[in-house]
Amino acid sequence: MNALPVVTTEIPSVTSPAFVLGPERLQDVTPREMLLDRAMGPNRKRKSSEKLRRGRKPAEGLALVARDEDERLIGTVRLWNVKLGERGRSALLLGPLAVEPSVKCGGIGSALMREAIAEARRLGHGAILLVGDPEYYERFGFTARKTGDLAMPGPFERHRFLALELIEGWLDGAVGTLKASGRKFGAVLAKAG
Ligand SMILES: CC(C)(COP(=O)(O)OP(=O)(O)OC[C@H]1O[C@@H](n2cnc3c(N)ncnc32)[C@H](O)[C@@H]1OP(=O)(O)O)[C@@H](O)C(=O)NCCC(=O)NCCS
Repeated sequence: MNALPVVTTEIPSVTSPAFVLGPERLQDVTPREMLLDRAMGPNRKRKSSEKLRRGRKPAEGLALVARDEDERLIGTVRLWNVKLGERGRSALLLGPLAVEPSVKCGGIGSALMREAIAEARRLGHGAILLVGDPEYYERFGFTARKTGDLAMPGPFERHRFLALELIEGWLDGAVGTLKASGRKFGAVLAKAG
């Protein structure tokens, strides 16, 4: 039996003239990994965020993609369940967010961010954290104001460690190192087998 609450993964598609947003499907995994290699380079898996993602599934309903008119995958964002310190509250870690380099600055990254935030809020999550460029993420409400007593499980630049509260006060008193708390891949595979 799955002890996790059942939440729908059906995300209403949001359409613009050039792209459609929707939930990631199984067949998106390979194109998504190829897109991430193109957009972020080969060192992308050395990031501290990767320690919180490795071997885990994304948070339920929070793996989103953008597709172009030909259904090609041109954007991706995923969010991950974490704990804020050993005994802390739950939260989400966002990343990686990436857009196909040839269609950068077309609003796809922003659309993915807005959809991810709205969906996380709808699902009842309290806060989203990420490590990224403040100049980009500030426009969605992310700041480093409430991450001062938190840490990533590895090297990170403090001014790039950002958070957005979805529930006011969720990060008050939050202290410690982020810890992965999402569903493990192994457990799911064992169950399936
Ligand atoms: C960052 C990224 C996801 C943005 O997606 P996008 O679809 O190109 O961005 P949008 O069209 O939504 O927004 C474009 C705006 O963001 C700005 N922007 C893009 N990346 C930025 C960055 N790293 N820092 C600051 N501003 C940035 C652009 O200059 C543009 O500004 P404008 O609105 O004032 O013209 C995309 O450029 C990407 O995949 N980059 C490589 C991977 C990466 O760096 N991921 C994020 C890790 S921090």
